[in-house]
Amino acid sequence: MVGAATPTSAAVAATVAQVVPSTGKPVVVELGPGTGSLSDGIHARLPLGARHLGIELGEDLVAHLREHKPWLEVVHGDAGELQGLLADQGIGKVDAIISSIPWSLLDDATQDRILGQAAQALKPHGAFTALTYLPAERTRNARRFRGRLHETFDEVLTHTTWRNFPPILHYLCRRPLV
Ligand SMILES: C[S@@+](CC[C@H](N)C(=O)[O-])C[C@H]1O[C@@H](n2cnc3c(N)ncnc32)[C@H](O)[C@@H]1O
Repeated sequence: MVGAATPTSAAVAATVAQVVPSTGKPVVVELGPGTGSLSDGIHARLPLGARHLGIELGEDLVAHLREHKPWLEVVHGDAGELQGLLADQGIGKVDAIISSIPWSLLDDATQDRILGQAAQALKPHGAFTALTYLPAERTRNARRFRGRLHETFDEVLTHTTWRNFPPILHYLCRRPLV
């Protein structure tokens, strides 16, 4: 379920960090932080008093993150149970969700469950981002995921980072329709 060809590049991390709120006391969640290649850029942008959580399924990756990113609130769990996991941490709605779980490898039911949980966990003006590999965009699962994003959010924007191998397609989604 890692679904990664290589660790994500600094160029991708910089693009992701742009959607992270830099004022107030935001709550930001990473779904599938892996080894944390996006986490530093997100952390650097967050203001004092913000919360930064990582929901990670892989037990070894959880241990790695806890050792190397002590400032990240690492939760060992399934993004498909996001709302319950957040409630356990005393959190209701969140300001931003950054997901780099392998969406194009997930079956329909798993896509729907995780996306539904994410949309319901977002504040009305929160932002949801998803990263996918550009070459995988032609696959049936990736096309379905794109369609589900358009059904789930009022606004869906895309951006490609070419300085990554393989290139990354970013989805930036706002205003959940739930
Ligand atoms: C492609 S890696 C992304 C790693 C890192 N964020 C990056 O961009 O370099 C996908 C990560 O998602 C995690 N993952 C997959 N399915 C998940 C799920 N349902 N809930 C939480 N994490 C999941 C995997 O264990 C893996 O660490």
